[in-house]
Amino acid sequence: MPIVAPSLLASNFFKMEEECKMLNESEADWYHLDVMDGRFVPNISFGPMIIEFFRIATTKPCDVHLMILEPGDFAEQFKNAGADHLTVHIEACPNLHRNLQQIKSLGMKTGVAINPHTPVSDLSDILHDTDIVCMMSVNPGYGGQQFIPHTLEKIKQLRKMIDERGLKTLIEIDGGVTVENAPSIIAAGADVLVAGNTVFKSADPKETIRQLKMLK
Ligand code: DX5
Ligand code: ZN
Repeated sequence: MPIVAPSLLASNFFKMEEECKMLNESEADWYHLDVMDGRFVPNISFGPMIIEFFRIATTKPCDVHLMILEPGDFAEQFKNAGADHLTVHIEACPNLHRNLQQIKSLGMKTGVAINPHTPVSDLSDILHDTDIVCMMSVNPGYGGQQFIPHTLEKIKQLRKMIDERGLKTLIEIDGGVTVENAPSIIAAGADVLVAGNTVFKSADPKETIRQLKMLK
């Protein structure tokens, strides 16, 4: 059964409390929160202050995906805002090992995100320090984009690398996940499905979450 992490980016911010209530009652496992700085990605979303508000209403782990430059400057703020997992981009971190040690020392799970053009082999010497690999299946910056099919090949490569080393690192797929393509994503070896538009723009978000959870 996959871990399902709805992405709040696609939610109705005007009805934040209702959206959180729906997620609390649903079978969702984590809340995925996308932080964008307008520099690493061509869009700006929200920061720790908004996550602090979400945290008041949420009962499940907050999976914070930082699409920002110099994430180390903000790790403590995100911890204080209530982040349980903190994911940084490999492309934004010339001293990635230091970033992960910092996240760990603050008591959060470590996540490393990789963009569609970044090879899986770039994770080779950091995998054992990583709790979650967030594999982008779209170019980061916006919700509602199409899943890039080559991601399936990358998932298989990463699954092999994790299994061969006997690691427990989770593979999270982020971008363009739908009820239709999720079975092949899971079959390729993914553990976590992030879903924004698929959940929040559906007629019955709770039911859509349930459908994603039921997939094998
Ligand atoms: C994209 C974000 C994703 C996004 C996914 O930069 O990292 O988490 O919210 O949204 P959907 O599922 O709509 O592609
Ligand atoms: Zn994300």
